[in-house]
Amino acid sequence: MMNVPDSSEATHDLPLAGQRVVLGVSGGIAAYKAILVLRQLVDLGAHVVPVLTEAALHMVGPTTFTALGSEPVKTSLWDDADPIPHTTMGQTADLILVCPATARLLADYRMGRSGDLLTATLIATEAPVVICPAMHTEMWDHPAVQENLEVLASRGVNIVPPEAGRLAGGDVGRGRLAAPEAVVAAVLTTLDRAMSRQRSAGPSTSGPLSGRHVLVSAGGTREAIDPVRFIGNRSSGKQGYALAEEARVRGATVTLVSTVDLPISEGIEVVAVATAAEMEQAIMDRSAACDVIVMAAAVADFRPVSSAERKIKKGDGVPQIVLEPTNDILAGLGATKPDGQVLVGFAAETNDVDSNAQDKLKRKRADFIIANDVAAPGVGFAHDTNAVTIHGADGSRIEVPLQGKNGIARAVLDAVEARLGQRSS
Ligand code: CTP
Repeated sequence: MMNVPDSSEATHDLPLAGQRVVLGVSGGIAAYKAILVLRQLVDLGAHVVPVLTEAALHMVGPTTFTALGSEPVKTSLWDDADPIPHTTMGQTADLILVCPATARLLADYRMGRSGDLLTATLIATEAPVVICPAMHTEMWDHPAVQENLEVLASRGVNIVPPEAGRLAGGDVGRGRLAAPEAVVAAVLTTLDRAMSRQRSAGPSTSGPLSGRHVLVSAGGTREAIDPVRFIGNRSSGKQGYALAEEARVRGATVTLVSTVDLPISEGIEVVAVATAAEMEQAIMDRSAACDVIVMAAAVADFRPVSSAERKIKKGDGVPQIVLEPTNDILAGLGATKPDGQVLVGFAAETNDVDSNAQDKLKRKRADFIIANDVAAPGVGFAHDTNAVTIHGADGSRIEVPLQGKNGIARAVLDAVEARLGQRSS
């Protein structure tokens, strides 16, 4: 594929890209407004999983939520193909939003009762939670409701207070669900705060990877055809950046060899490269000192034998571009791997994913190959989510379900840590 850089290529991430939000809807009249919230979250790039309580189903139909959400509506603890949907959702969510939240939901959540899928998910998560109560004024003013809200707020739950206005049945007073824009703003700020808390916590000196040097490669290499054109690929670099951040959070000294310039935490050494040859040089110069090397970059397999010094003009006729193979960096690392080093490669495949991954594992002498089926929905280059299978040289195989690239990074580094642990014990 040939990419020609131009100003229209500059893309800005949607603010919620890569974020997995569970949208819980409980049984209040305001449930219909949750559809507007859902729409806005999806427009901002979020992956939204709608969870409706039985009572909510009396207020609104699931079809609209399924059509507008990122996954079909879930309602029951029992009717899902996943035997433990609440823990799967709780563990993979970046944020849980309950909109609207009834008085009963507040009471259940405060008490830790988990009788349905939504409350069970709330109890089974460490993700930040945003709650948007909506009810009649008398209920809102009841001391039990206010006390429940106080307790939940003291536990760090972000409460978006209701407005005063027209309520069901024609009454007017406090208790109307906050405007969808206010709900979405609360989601944005809550996620932002969670992110900066994680970053300002910085590397932990006692983290599981402290004392380890982790090198990650990220982005797609660019092989010049002339001064304005290159052969490139669709890699955004986000998975590599997520891996570098996660390694840093776990206490490692991190070097990121990257072809793209994305925001990154202080303390991570970034080595900017463009071509496969530059990436190879930067990695080989540092590889001997590394405990872990993760080749998340999409390295060109071929490059033009020569690059024109001046821009090739249309009038010059159709250029004949002769290609030559690049070196396989991962295979080079595998061939010279020092004892104890853990080497990780990726395999983006469109078919025969397992057998291709197994083949790469052996051919490149890696400890792990992280395989993804880029033809599957929500997976790979063009998405902020990914679903992978971690193939280990020891025959292990870990399926990591569709989630944000941060979650994939956590799963990969969990596997790496386990391997480092086995080697040092
Ligand atoms: N890789 C590399 N150097 C290359 C090509 C790939 O280090 N010249 C690394 C990638 O960073 C990735 C792994 O090898 O971690 C697999 O890359 P992929 O492109 O899927 O594999 P290829 O070896 O190119 O195999 P194929 O073209 O058969 O898919």
